[in-house]
Amino acid sequence: MTEEERIVNPRRQVEDLGLELGLRPRSLSEFVGQNEVRRNLEIAMSAARARGEAVDHILVHGPPGLGKTTLAHIIAQEMGAGIKTTSGPVVERAGDLAALLTNLQPRDVLFIDEVHRLPTVVEEILYPAMEDFRLDLIIGQGPGARSLKLELPHFTLVGATTRAGLLTPALRDRFGLMLRLDFYAPEDLAKITRRAAQVLGVEVEEEGAWEIARRSRGTPRIANRLLKRVRDYAQVRGDGRVTREVADAALTLLEVDQLGFDRMDRQILLTILEKYNGGPVGLGTLAAALCEEQDTLEDVYEPFLIQCGFLQRTPRGRMTTSRAVEYFQQPAFRKLHPGLFDN
Ligand SMILES: Nc1ncnc2c1ncn2[C@@H]1O[C@H](COP(=O)(O)OP(=O)(O)OP(=O)(O)O)[C@@H](O)[C@H]1O
Ligand SMILES: [Mg+2]
Repeated sequence: MTEEERIVNPRRQVEDLGLELGLRPRSLSEFVGQNEVRRNLEIAMSAARARGEAVDHILVHGPPGLGKTTLAHIIAQEMGAGIKTTSGPVVERAGDLAALLTNLQPRDVLFIDEVHRLPTVVEEILYPAMEDFRLDLIIGQGPGARSLKLELPHFTLVGATTRAGLLTPALRDRFGLMLRLDFYAPEDLAKITRRAAQVLGVEVEEEGAWEIARRSRGTPRIANRLLKRVRDYAQVRGDGRVTREVADAALTLLEVDQLGFDRMDRQILLTILEKYNGGPVGLGTLAAALCEEQDTLEDVYEPFLIQCGFLQRTPRGRMTTSRAVEYFQQPAFRKLHPGLFDN
């Protein structure tokens, strides 16, 4: 199974494209959960609005699919400002960033996704732009080179990253506000599922929404995606209504278990348990054993396993916990996946 084929992959997939635009909350009041983030943001935005200023630069970090891009758009919307979006690896040269910055209106949001992947030359242009709203560019090379200084409108940089630890300290220090998104509680995900069902015109029973919520790995993007699949199942096998039984049957068919784990999660845990005696095993070794990229393992698979208390990151490597062992001792597990213990 490749990363893209996973129904519970938190990264955005092609199948999410149309779906996400319609389901994305447009205002802070529609944004479910993350109460502390919403409180901090509300205060910062109200104060800036009262002063007629741009809100401070904001770094939003957290695992994929938790609402970073959504928040960037909400910030612009709530400030009554425009938004220009780009992404770290796309801004290759200083000139690319200069073009973006000089096109901003006062109070606009410049959203840089994957901000930890900005090239150093670009990052250095960003420092004075963030701090003093000034652009310092060197044009040309050698003796003919000239320096160009430009005043910029007061804008808000919203940076998003799944890997706050990879940000240079110089860049991190220039953000006035850091918002950390955590995995959502099941009640928030049930609310998100009910809201999405309303938008999609699907009839969902309370227990059906909870069943999807519990199996969505704390991630709104996955809740939305699972709802779509369960809806299809309900149409074909039922009367279109998403009940608890329908949700359970559909998700079991998709091999998403009660905890939201799929085959890849189990494979990761089993590899550590069987091949490395429960660990510790280094990330590189584990990635090689699973034929996965280290980055994908770290960004996509591990956060949820750690959050559930099945996996630990230690200085000497990854380790499974007693919870992981208990999980594999369930008889239902062996029945569901015969053969997984054999290899
Ligand atoms: N708090 C929320 N309330 C309701 N829906 C949400 C919330 N957060 C996210 N969503 C839904 O989840 C989808 C994914 O969110 P978003 O694209 O903002 O995630 P992201 O953190 O930017 O992910 P990535 O790291 O992959 O860029 C959105 O389209 C939206 O429908
Ligand atoms: Mg995003």
